[in-house]
Amino acid sequence: MRHIVLTGFMGAGKTAVGRRLAKRLGRPFLDTDQLIEEQSGRTISEIFAEDGEAGFRRIERETVAALAPDAPSVIATGGGTFVDAANQARLRELGVVICLLINIDTVVERTTRNSKRPLASGGRADLERLFAERLPAYRQADVLVETDNLSIEQSVTRVLSILEPRLKADSAHEREPA
Ligand code: S3P
Repeated sequence: MRHIVLTGFMGAGKTAVGRRLAKRLGRPFLDTDQLIEEQSGRTISEIFAEDGEAGFRRIERETVAALAPDAPSVIATGGGTFVDAANQARLRELGVVICLLINIDTVVERTTRNSKRPLASGGRADLERLFAERLPAYRQADVLVETDNLSIEQSVTRVLSILEPRLKADSAHEREPA
């Protein structure tokens, strides 16, 4: 298990949980949306407004294809990233894929608070449709973690406890003489 990749619907806490998980493990943290914004010099909302969703997905796919962190890292992705087949294949190659699952009420509550997410601007009915459409893809993750009613810290603890056997196996492997 080289990298730890986080997926899940908008509002699931991928960035917040990922950042804290990285800190606890002493690993670098990467966020694909942040990379897209830095590399394009535009916000996600600007990309959607100027190039449409198709343009954003193109950039997202290029960003994921180019992901190759040297050190074992924690990588948070956008809510739609893992839904794309090419991204899914690449992210699996990179390491273990963890999906943070929340229910639709939590999604609506968290994503309609601000206007940073273009795909959350249509309201509950649109979010419900997208959520149902994407669930089968999220279920393809290696590990599913329900984080409703969990704080960021509790979510991190849960993820760590699930990953513990893999992390131990990795460090035992690293100690083996070549
Ligand atoms: C998207 C989710 C966003 C961002 C973009 C598209 C999606 O990331 O990548 O607005 O398709 O669900 P978050 O899941 O971090 O909000």
